[in-house]
Amino acid sequence: MAVSSLPGAPDKDLVNQIKRLEELFTIDTATLKKITHHFVDELTRGLSVEGGSIPMNPTWVMSEPTGHETGEYLALDFGGTNLRVCQVTLKERNFDIIQSKWRIREELKTGVAEELWDFLADCLHQFIETHHGPITNNTMDKIPLGFTFSYPATQNYIDEGTLQWWTKGFDIAGVEGHNVVPMFEAALRQRGVPVKLIALVNDTTGTLIASAYANLHMKIGCIFGTGCNAAYIEDCGSIPKLAHLNLPSNTPMVINCEWGAFNHRTLPRTPYDTSIDKASPRPGQQAFEKMVAGLYLGEIFRLIMVDLHSNPETHVFAGQDMSKLQNPYSLDSSFLAAIEEDPTDNLSNTLELFQTQLNISPNLPELQLIRRTAELIGTRAARLSACGVAAISIKKGYASCHVGADGSVFQKYPHFKARGAQALREILDWPAKQDPGEEDPIEILPAEDGSGVGAALIAALTLRRVQEGNM
Ligand code: GLC
Repeated sequence: MAVSSLPGAPDKDLVNQIKRLEELFTIDTATLKKITHHFVDELTRGLSVEGGSIPMNPTWVMSEPTGHETGEYLALDFGGTNLRVCQVTLKERNFDIIQSKWRIREELKTGVAEELWDFLADCLHQFIETHHGPITNNTMDKIPLGFTFSYPATQNYIDEGTLQWWTKGFDIAGVEGHNVVPMFEAALRQRGVPVKLIALVNDTTGTLIASAYANLHMKIGCIFGTGCNAAYIEDCGSIPKLAHLNLPSNTPMVINCEWGAFNHRTLPRTPYDTSIDKASPRPGQQAFEKMVAGLYLGEIFRLIMVDLHSNPETHVFAGQDMSKLQNPYSLDSSFLAAIEEDPTDNLSNTLELFQTQLNISPNLPELQLIRRTAELIGTRAARLSACGVAAISIKKGYASCHVGADGSVFQKYPHFKARGAQALREILDWPAKQDPGEEDPIEILPAEDGSGVGAALIAALTLRRVQEGNM
């Protein structure tokens, strides 16, 4: 929204502040193209023996679903915000799902490893007892489990994974550098939970496979949520770091890019991005993710507001109680979404949001500044995300394809899809659409549930591979 379209003349200092923020946060087409160019290089470097900034983890998911997969599976989805247990019944390109969800307590994210594994095992235990009746010793066949562990993991086999580093604000000692599966299985054994872990899956890999189950044109799976990442299918012949295994060069391998780790000097980081990084449990890591993922959008906004308040020239929120706004990570991306969604001319919904959640009553010029700041942060995130999608498409030579995307930002953040599509159009130089209903050559579409259905499908594909003796 242009500032001038709002009633009431914004104060001159605030107009200058808006201009300053616009300069910091706007990414023009030329910069998007430069970032994408380096992104393509980093994707390639990540597959090399020497490596680069992006892990590019082979996942050992080596086939796409045929659509004929059937059977009953459990999926445990351990993402960044919630824990979910799903029972998925696959039926020929279709599925039924029963699920339960628990919020991951903040203390758990930086607590002790045993508590984490106990929590995961307890939730699975509770779910099975609710849906299958009491668990008694050895009376039940083990149910195949796909474990969606949405953090970077090095995998030599599909049913193991060594955590490279925690992301999304997690910081639990004693897990990085270790295979997470035995730790989790020990907690399952203690409780006699009758499951057999078949596959450790990243949410992006699950998203790609679940989407391909329903739509054969899906070539990339993305998550734009608490974290941000993508997976796509590479040929083993293009993965030099696997050359020593002598896999046939045309064998497909899903790669979990872990593109949140992308870092390059072309990324236009602002002082607010630097502050977020410095205060995070892993400074220097996940540079790209810290600019685009849902976990950080509200915090970028909060830091800007605190900065403007402490700037004696702007007098933003002068005389107001700033105690709530001083709390790190107190605003999540849904707060920014609500600001961007305010349909009122005088931004009265935003005023109410600030009053109820932060005990602050901004005046109209301040509300205009708030709205513009939210737009700038949300637009930058969507435009940068498009660089990743464009980079994979360029690397793979996809002139046209579908991209399956999931996550709270993709699903709920206003205009995220349209802003991302616009940026993709600029990066890939597509001609203007003749008709607004026309599909773009590369369309980012809502994905199927990757962390639930995708994990179940990957468990099914893995069991089929074992039966066929291909492991
Ligand atoms: C973080 C994780 C990655 C995950 C993404 C989305 O980037 O490192 O594994 O896919 O968040 O949840």
